[in-house]
Amino acid sequence: MALVSLVSAFDLSPVQDFCVVINNSAVFMNGKVCNDPKLAIVNDFFFSGLLTPQNASNLVGSKVTPVNVIQILGLNTLGISLARINFSPYGLNAPHTHPRATAVIVVLEGTLYVGFVTSNTDNRLFTKVLYPGDVFVFP
Ligand SMILES: *[C@@H]1O[C@H](CO)[C@@H](O)[C@H](O)[C@H]1NC(C)=O
Ligand SMILES: *[C@@H]1O[C@H](CO)[C@@H](O)[C@H](O)[C@H]1NC(C)=O
Repeated sequence: MALVSLVSAFDLSPVQDFCVVINNSAVFMNGKVCNDPKLAIVNDFFFSGLLTPQNASNLVGSKVTPVNVIQILGLNTLGISLARINFSPYGLNAPHTHPRATAVIVVLEGTLYVGFVTSNTDNRLFTKVLYPGDVFVFP
């Protein structure tokens, strides 16, 4: 007798184009409570102000301007968000994780030493020095 067990796991295909957050909803594991799609407005998909430099003169020498589901309610469940980071010379963006999210960085000015450590293999470190116009992906 042979027993065969097949297991497959994957993210479900989205069944809707978007899921604008009801902004006062509680946080759930995989996204927040969606508003009725018929009630979506253009500003649910809009943010302004990312060109404004922020003051990075603080203990860590960096200032993050997040543009995630808090700022753009329509980003809920889409798996993307944005941020601007201003760095002081030798500033640092402390090591952190991005559960179920990928970050893509574009350097506009200066030189930036970036890297990540893999968690699903052998804790390999990938690092690189980036220059203006360079793009790097943090899986
Ligand atoms: C930036 O913040 C530092 C520390 O709070 C302050 O001393 C400095 O004046 C600020 N610079 C600007 C341009 O606002
Ligand atoms: C959503 O609510 C939070 C907390 O009250 C607030 O900071 C944020 O600006 C709101 N976002 C939008 C897009 O209204």
